[in-house]
Amino acid sequence: MQRAAQSWHREGRRIGFVPTMGFLHDGHMSLVRDARRRVGPDGIVIVSIYVNPTQFAPTEDLSRYPRDLKRDYALCRADGVDGIFLPSDAVMYPGRDAGAYSTYVAEESLTRRMEGASRPTHFRGVTTIVAKLFHCVLPDVAVFGAKDWQQAVVIRRMTVDLNFPIQIVVAPTGRASDGLALSSRNAYLSPTEREQATVLWRALNAARVAVAKKTVSVAELEKAVRRLIATAPAARVDYVEFFDGETLEPAVQVKRGTHMALAVFLGKTRLIDNARL
Ligand code: PAF
Repeated sequence: MQRAAQSWHREGRRIGFVPTMGFLHDGHMSLVRDARRRVGPDGIVIVSIYVNPTQFAPTEDLSRYPRDLKRDYALCRADGVDGIFLPSDAVMYPGRDAGAYSTYVAEESLTRRMEGASRPTHFRGVTTIVAKLFHCVLPDVAVFGAKDWQQAVVIRRMTVDLNFPIQIVVAPTGRASDGLALSSRNAYLSPTEREQATVLWRALNAARVAVAKKTVSVAELEKAVRRLIATAPAARVDYVEFFDGETLEPAVQVKRGTHMALAVFLGKTRLIDNARL
């Protein structure tokens, strides 16, 4: 991968990169199209597909994470992807099971709340693998989805802190017609859970309406959001947070432009979503 990337750079071609864990959907493909627009027709668009073990806790869904490489290839081909980087665990983490892999990248500030609090080992895995993928693919520009807002902010910080000469783009969340954010994990939902999963989007919209004309307290808005989510019997809130979208600093009051993120279990499936209110 590195040798190919170096030779494309020698030819003066820009490399656009979309890192994924596969089971691609139109949300991913809109990131691919964004990467293509940025590198131009002579540029190279690379998608990586790697279900990264270090970002899953032992209790999480690593072994049952959905996979369909054939379909992923077809989608990539249809959208003009130039190359798929499909590394194995042995390539990414040689000797990890035998304790012979020991270098990790950890961001230590932006990862304390939200996903970082609910999934304490998650971001160390994400920053480690993204740093490694950047070293393999050597992109000029990398595109991440806004659905994982905290992840995008963390990666942007890592890129600055570790001097990666890479432009980080955060592209809008793809949504189903009823507002549910596209996610590979939606495949886990039963029909009833899928129906009720729109509660995340409804909660974001209700919060947006609540702050459209006035500033409200975090406690008051969080209570209203939790009440709305409780109307979906299959839903259980993990967190609801209000914060500054750039710094991730918790909001004192919620007003137009404050960012809201939430994580909600639908049955056993944990979904996340966010929006600038
Ligand atoms: O967002 C994802 O799919 C993953 O966290 C990423 C960025 C591909 C790293 O494994």
